[in-house]
Amino acid sequence: MEQEALKKYFLRCAGPFGTGDADVRRNLELKRDHTLRVVRLAASLAQAENFSSRETELLMPAALFHDLSRFEQYRRFRSFNDAVTYDHGERSFELVRERGLLADLPGDEQNAVLCAVRFHNKLEIPPDLPPAAKKILLAVRDADKTDIMGILLEYLKNPGNPAIVYGLPDNGALSARVRDAVLAGRSPAHRELESSLDFLAAKFAWGFDLNFGWTCREFLRRGYMERLRALLPEKPEVLDVMLQKVSDHLRKKGK
Ligand SMILES: [Fe+2]
Repeated sequence: MEQEALKKYFLRCAGPFGTGDADVRRNLELKRDHTLRVVRLAASLAQAENFSSRETELLMPAALFHDLSRFEQYRRFRSFNDAVTYDHGERSFELVRERGLLADLPGDEQNAVLCAVRFHNKLEIPPDLPPAAKKILLAVRDADKTDIMGILLEYLKNPGNPAIVYGLPDNGALSARVRDAVLAGRSPAHRELESSLDFLAAKFAWGFDLNFGWTCREFLRRGYMERLRALLPEKPEVLDVMLQKVSDHLRKKGK
């Protein structure tokens, strides 16, 4: 399928939005708009990082389909929490493969796009991916994080949609496991998150998990980490240490 046909297909999967349930509609629209922004961010990254035209062409369907299962997930479970539903990267991978959406591409290129979809949300990526597949995957992961940080910061300004923080309790507690993981520059696993503060503090660790200089500069330009800190409670003070560490890292890697 051509890029335009793929986009139309994606939009059909995302809808319809005319159902009576306002919560479902809001969350499907949120994921649709997220994906469309990730596609644009991925294009900007590819340009800034001198991707070849072929690499850019493969990055587009990877970005477009990385969250394809989110629509089904929310319709079925009313939740985006993979820990209690399914791994949405695995499920998106299955959908893209089963529906033959990449049938026009040679096998190794299909594989590169499928890998990016499948592993975009994993804590760690497999060590033995072919370099071409790895590059597409790393770019999708960066573009995805760049957009999700914006969504989260908007949520924090007006915390009215608990689906964004997976419905975790807002009890102001930061668990020791999450604290230690972030200070070590490591993202905690979903199942380790016990509160909305855990969920949000874990986002500091995203700054350590960016792959391209462009993305680090984009995080700095958008003030993501400072804005995150400003919207979290004043205590515990270790949140300030997290901000300092991640900011130093982004400045170094973004050079
Ligand atoms: Fe995702």
